[in-house]
Amino acid sequence: MSVKDIFETMDYGPAPESASEAMSWLAKKGQFGHFIDGAFTVPGDGLESRNPATGEVLATLTQATQADVDAAVVAARRAQGKWAALGGHGRARYLYAIARLLQKHSRLFAVLETLDNGKPIRESRDIDIPLAQRHFYYHAGMAQLMEEALPAAQPLGVCGQIIPWNFPLLMLSWKITPALAMGNTVVLKPAEYTSLTALLFAEICQQAGLPKGVVNIVTGDGAVGEMIVASDVDKIAFTGSTSVGRKIREATAGSGKALTLELGGKSPYIVFDDADIDSAIEGLVDAIWFNQGQVCCAGSRLLVQESIAEEFHKRLRTRMDKLRIGDPLDKCIDVGAVVDPVQLDTITQMVAENTAGHRHVAAVPLPEKGCFYPPTLISGLGPADPLMQEEIFGPVLVSCTFRTPEEAVALANNTRYGLAATLWTENVNLALDIAPKLVAGVVWVNATNLFDAAAGFGGVRESGFGREGGWEGLRAYTRTKDKTRALTRIAPLNGAGAAQDIIDRTAKMYVGGKQARPDSGYSSAVFGKSGALLGHVGQGSRKDVRNAVEAAQGAAGWGGNTGHLRAQILYYIAENLAARADEFASRIDAMKGGRQGAKEVEASIQRLFSAAAWADKYDGQVHSVPIRGVALAMKEPVGIIGALCADEAPLLGLVSVMAPAIAMGNRVVLAASEPYPLAATDFYQVLDTSDVPGGVVNILTGAHADLAPTLAAHLNVDAVWSFSSTDLSADIERASAGNLKRTWVNNGQAVDWFKPRTAQFLAQATEIKTIWVPYGE
Ligand code: NAI
Repeated sequence: MSVKDIFETMDYGPAPESASEAMSWLAKKGQFGHFIDGAFTVPGDGLESRNPATGEVLATLTQATQADVDAAVVAARRAQGKWAALGGHGRARYLYAIARLLQKHSRLFAVLETLDNGKPIRESRDIDIPLAQRHFYYHAGMAQLMEEALPAAQPLGVCGQIIPWNFPLLMLSWKITPALAMGNTVVLKPAEYTSLTALLFAEICQQAGLPKGVVNIVTGDGAVGEMIVASDVDKIAFTGSTSVGRKIREATAGSGKALTLELGGKSPYIVFDDADIDSAIEGLVDAIWFNQGQVCCAGSRLLVQESIAEEFHKRLRTRMDKLRIGDPLDKCIDVGAVVDPVQLDTITQMVAENTAGHRHVAAVPLPEKGCFYPPTLISGLGPADPLMQEEIFGPVLVSCTFRTPEEAVALANNTRYGLAATLWTENVNLALDIAPKLVAGVVWVNATNLFDAAAGFGGVRESGFGREGGWEGLRAYTRTKDKTRALTRIAPLNGAGAAQDIIDRTAKMYVGGKQARPDSGYSSAVFGKSGALLGHVGQGSRKDVRNAVEAAQGAAGWGGNTGHLRAQILYYIAENLAARADEFASRIDAMKGGRQGAKEVEASIQRLFSAAAWADKYDGQVHSVPIRGVALAMKEPVGIIGALCADEAPLLGLVSVMAPAIAMGNRVVLAASEPYPLAATDFYQVLDTSDVPGGVVNILTGAHADLAPTLAAHLNVDAVWSFSSTDLSADIERASAGNLKRTWVNNGQAVDWFKPRTAQFLAQATEIKTIWVPYGE
């Protein structure tokens, strides 16, 4: 017998991991209550938690009532002040202690996770649990460094956290660690299918002596999630489906609760013709068959260059036929069980409804019972086929081909999602050319599905907003120490000025670098503090917003300019404003009364200088991650930002928004101060003479309440900010749920515009893309 024969006839024998420890822990418990205020509650009515590989009931969980959720929130609130007051070092010691305990009990966690979720033990043992531990170690460090490294940050308070079933303990650790490190306390709800490791984690918190109330865990289904969302918490962090994310956006609108959403994806997996094909195929096993494809960032959409497509698909099918599917506790298994019969039905139905392309089902035996779905490839699809667009969340890969790199980018970005993307090529120039063009929060080069606590993770578009991991992830759990006061509406002034003393002072709007008449055909008079008629401005309406957004879309090239060039233009704006400082100052004084105009112009010039200074210095980072590579945290512009500018500071409010936004490469649609719009309409003359390309800055006038709904609902606007004295926060946030655009609203609070908030503006004006690249040995 030759070596070849031996290799070909050798088969894997089963290598089952023992479930006895986990089963005896479960038998001891049997029924679980919630973990509130440091203790388990008496179990109540609830749900059965089953092993999806066998259908066997593992335990019963309690469905939380409103009273349970309230008790958990009260406990968290009570604990928060003391927890924060422990200081970074005090908190670091607890996080470190938990990390050690997770390590000590790692096999129990891994087996329990596999029993509850159906994922192969190789994955829970080698990926989920070690990464969860890593998050606790890493964030113990962040707690330690908080005072030193983030002196302006303070905790948000109580965080409500709702997590899905695909990475139960790992998602718990992604959520809990930054929250606790920054001095927050939490109420967390695991997914109803997979709550067991969260409950074991509660025991670890007790063993670590974590002060009671710092971590509270309530179990139950989506109704419990809704209760948490509606409860008296300061932040909601959610990972799960885009449809639920949208509901949460609507439910929290105007509440002032901070929100991060990590939602679905249909991530492209691009293979260029010069790629190392075998590595790219092995990568696909990790991209789409890892965790049965139930991964939000799964490389579920294969795009292969046409010249290698046939060979690539052939080798891929061969590889698929060698995958092993079966008992998740078997250490030789590649593909385990799908989480629940409900999810299995969803996958089965989505695939059954598809009639396009060619389906290849891995020629592997399936276990006779349990929730198993065979690895499947559907090739030859068109970009608009439903399976190329919809998230399947199962072990089903879809594919199509492309000819040129440009086409690959167009296909990759042809999705409403923007979570992750993978690209394979041996050509470093091509990789580094394509990575920035992909609309995604994470890009992997010649690797896939890499995660680490030091690297930010999160999406753009309908994949949600906010980052988890790294320095960038901490922003979601802190607030700045700004002083605010209650917002009071500043209404336009009335007056009785005579019209005959002016010839025609109807200021137009500014769209696409040109003056534009209001589509409504209506103007309103602007009276000064003294009652004199100062001019007229157009009443902007829906159509004007749309025109302005279209103009901004046309100026997409702005983001591709160098920071140096953007800085030059900002300095030039400052120079031209300075040349007309007196005129602007008297205009402001005439509108508002008083003598603050000169101060406002001076502050505006300084703000322009500050944004210009940052334009080429607000750099990204290189995260050091424990793999053969680095994770680049690149700061990219958000895109098109719509902003309702502060009413009380007609020039400074506008410049404070515009300058950092365009410095970072965004384009803006600005609604001028509603009562004092003439500083903004004068300002576009400054823009006109300062080489600002048309469409980069668009200025509208009119009632904020009329302009906000269109801006907030517009699908091509990426973010909406509101500093209007009309509190439009709730309306804006609700309407933003459509394309899940980012919002930054004042929630009924006003700030002092003379105090610079540069760091906040720059952070809001950028999105972090994490690009994982091979580096070193
Ligand atoms: P889901 O989004 O319904 O569930 C995630 C979590 O949210 C669970 O803890 C659930 O109890 C909770 N929840 C459900 N409705 C809620 C509500 N109205 N308010 C607050 N919390 C609520 O996800 P589901 O139904 O389990 O899976 C459906 C699909 O969602 C999957 O097929 C997949 O496409 C996607 N999904 C995406 C995930 C991701 O990581 N991006 C994770 C899980 C599911």
